[in-house]
Amino acid sequence: MSLANGRPYLAIPGPSVMPDAVLRAMHAASPNIYEGDLPEMVAGIVPDLRRVARTDGHVAMYIANGHGAWEAALSNTVAAGEAVLVPSTGRFGIGWADTATGMGIDATVIDFGRKAPIDLDRVADALKADTDHKFRAVLVQHVDTSSSVRNDIAGVRQVLDDTGHPALLMVDCIASLACDVFEMDAWGADVMVAASQKGLMVPPGLGFVFYNDRAAAQRARMPRVTRYWDWATRSDPEMFYQYFQGTAPTHHLMGLRASLDMIHAEGIEAVWNRHAVLARAIWAACDAWGQEGPLRLNIADPAQRSHAVTALRVGAPYGSKLRAWTASNTGVVLGIGLGMSEDGDADGTGFFRFGHMGHVNAHMILGLLGAVEAGFIALDIPHGAGGLSAAAAVISQA
Ligand SMILES: Cc1ncc(COP(=O)(O)O)c(C=O)c1O
Repeated sequence: MSLANGRPYLAIPGPSVMPDAVLRAMHAASPNIYEGDLPEMVAGIVPDLRRVARTDGHVAMYIANGHGAWEAALSNTVAAGEAVLVPSTGRFGIGWADTATGMGIDATVIDFGRKAPIDLDRVADALKADTDHKFRAVLVQHVDTSSSVRNDIAGVRQVLDDTGHPALLMVDCIASLACDVFEMDAWGADVMVAASQKGLMVPPGLGFVFYNDRAAAQRARMPRVTRYWDWATRSDPEMFYQYFQGTAPTHHLMGLRASLDMIHAEGIEAVWNRHAVLARAIWAACDAWGQEGPLRLNIADPAQRSHAVTALRVGAPYGSKLRAWTASNTGVVLGIGLGMSEDGDADGTGFFRFGHMGHVNAHMILGLLGAVEAGFIALDIPHGAGGLSAAAAVISQA
């Protein structure tokens, strides 16, 4: 017998659960890529993406994952030999810096560790010290998926303005778009990168770069931008094939159309609120469990936590044992503790993560938490009582 049989919940922080409507939309014959429904559909996707990102700016789409979107953003704005500043709050800050380094860009990383958000004062100091303005861009994660920290993007903008530094503010919303509140234009982000497989609920394979006119001006003074990454043709194509510089990702686009329809039918504010309440339910359960046991939320301050992913420490070897137990006994697959090995845990196996992004609702979160509590009991992991009731109370009051 296995109690895991039935509909599984892949509760890792991306790829996320795909809605049936997205899967159905993708279950279609190959469309004509030269005329007809597909080109018409893509023209409508662009303004709908802008609505999700809260921008009137430009959108370039790529057949790429998040790493591709990182490289696309840099390819259009920072030339080899130029410099960027990377305030890093987890594995993905280091990753974007590494992408820059691979392109011959000089990346200065300020590492804030894996438990804390960006310290704006230290960013201000680095910008003030850059008197000849060698930094062409500041690269930040809105949410770093490894630590589950959420950074203050409007605060980083303020620091750039206060110090009079002209660097572009480039924001990675790969884990946060359509999950956490994000206001590209109001918060003053010049460039934002996203991908299809998290809040947008589509399989991995589409990368997006949103940019404003300031960033477009920086693109215009680049000595060269390779044809494939050039955002100018993609965001203002004369021919349909130029959206993707070649054959369009036909079925991903069908899925994306369905997912944007779902997001707009619910309303982006309601989507943000749903994520916020479900995140609070998770934290309430974790706080109760942590009263009498080793479980700790990685980010102590709720105001600095993502609403899409939660990183937890339970201590080795409990983290990996718990993940294995819930997967084989309940059908819930938890995320690994990514990039946490340096934080007092020999190999990171004491950490794990909940992915609660995109197509998730109250019964899925209560099921996830119930599966984890069953795992605590089965594995004799000490924990406080009342976790599930604490989560249910949050949901009942929403
Ligand atoms: C915040 C963030 N940035 C970048 C990436 C890299 O995206 P990908 O794995 O699609 O290349 C991820 C992936 O999880 C992410 O969460």
